[in-house]
Amino acid sequence: MKFPEQGMSRPDISGEMRAKKKDDARWAEGRTFSLIYPTEGALDEDARDSSSGSPIEIDDVVADAHDLYLYENALNPFRFPSLREMEADVVSMTADLLHAPEDFGGSMTSGGTESILMATLVARGRALAERGVTEPQLLAPVSAHPAFAKAAYVLGLEHVQIPIGDDFRADVGAAAELVTDRTAMIVGSAPGYPHGVIDPIPELAAIAAERGIAFHTDSCVGGFLLPFLERLGRDVPPFDFRVEGVTSMSADVHKYGYTTKGASVVLHRRHEWFMDHQVFLYDRWPGGLYGSPAMAGARPAAPIAAAWAVMRHLGVEGYVALAESLLDTTAALKTGIEEIPELHVLGEPAASLVAFGSDTVDIGAVGDVMDDRGWHLDRQTGPDALHMMISPAHRKIVDVFLADLADAVANHGESRGVEARYS
Ligand SMILES: Cc1ncc(COP(=O)(O)O)c(C=O)c1O
Repeated sequence: MKFPEQGMSRPDISGEMRAKKKDDARWAEGRTFSLIYPTEGALDEDARDSSSGSPIEIDDVVADAHDLYLYENALNPFRFPSLREMEADVVSMTADLLHAPEDFGGSMTSGGTESILMATLVARGRALAERGVTEPQLLAPVSAHPAFAKAAYVLGLEHVQIPIGDDFRADVGAAAELVTDRTAMIVGSAPGYPHGVIDPIPELAAIAAERGIAFHTDSCVGGFLLPFLERLGRDVPPFDFRVEGVTSMSADVHKYGYTTKGASVVLHRRHEWFMDHQVFLYDRWPGGLYGSPAMAGARPAAPIAAAWAVMRHLGVEGYVALAESLLDTTAALKTGIEEIPELHVLGEPAASLVAFGSDTVDIGAVGDVMDDRGWHLDRQTGPDALHMMISPAHRKIVDVFLADLADAVANHGESRGVEARYS
């Protein structure tokens, strides 16, 4: 597009954007299983009333926060003390949820990837300062999110992969053998994206702690989910700061915290690690002291305000109600999938991420039929599988989804292959 000579009216612009959106995923109808975490319709009318007497209205709360903080810039907290307070509140509420010790440090970031980048930066800085490591390695399970490979690439660490076992969890014995004097950080996911299982965090963290190596629990997905499953009496294996060797964690408010994109929290067990290795301060230019807690310079204010608003709106009570509904929906989908004889769920998912495959039908071809019916299931390999990140709003699609899936299994053709989906 060439830069336009003439401007356009607001209604015309709006009309054009709406027209452009026609082929976008119909996420609000519960047709997608990644990227967005809708809640609409997750709770019965009577269950929506919390003890505070107010109904749960997440979407409106988020929209209000965005409206109020559309143009503000979180770069300079002294100009906008309200943002400084809200960011500190989001970070400390998350630290409370994840049992961080009193001396913790941390900040908000734009998302899981940036939180992971910051955790890796701190681990690299600590390895150099405390152990003289100049050619650091990052040890992460094969199932860890690509954000770790990206962090290693950006920050100049060697990325070493820990194999996973038949249960899709990191192999502790293999991890112990892969550790070297150069290992700056070991990683475990709670849960990991591909199979939704939780790595053996205490065992992996112990390997790190014994050698003074940083250990990061990636709870980008689980940080705002597992604590509420625990409150519902579910058996949640240890994953947070209650595990001694865990030195940092990431938790995304823009996933199961149910806010809009641009909001994650990175936490470090010690405040000094955050100050010494994450926070960037600079005054060797004419513009005065410049400080920045993470990668971005100018920072949008709305994601901070919206994260704060949603966390305050829901409280533990609201998150627990949504988690309960989400577990019911996940159980219904999982049972329905396993009742289709050709399909099986991979491993034992800990929460609401489920991958399923088949020994008898071409699962990619099944995915193609589901695509044609307007469902969006991500494809996985090793083993081939379809992937679902289930959200509370999927409560309303369980029956129609399972009927379409059974039909797709019975009537699929040849797989069109991955290339066909992206061409
Ligand atoms: C386990 C896990 N970690 C990290 C990330 C990266 O988060 P983001 O996409 O917000 O950068 C994701 C994203 O899905 C994830 O599932």
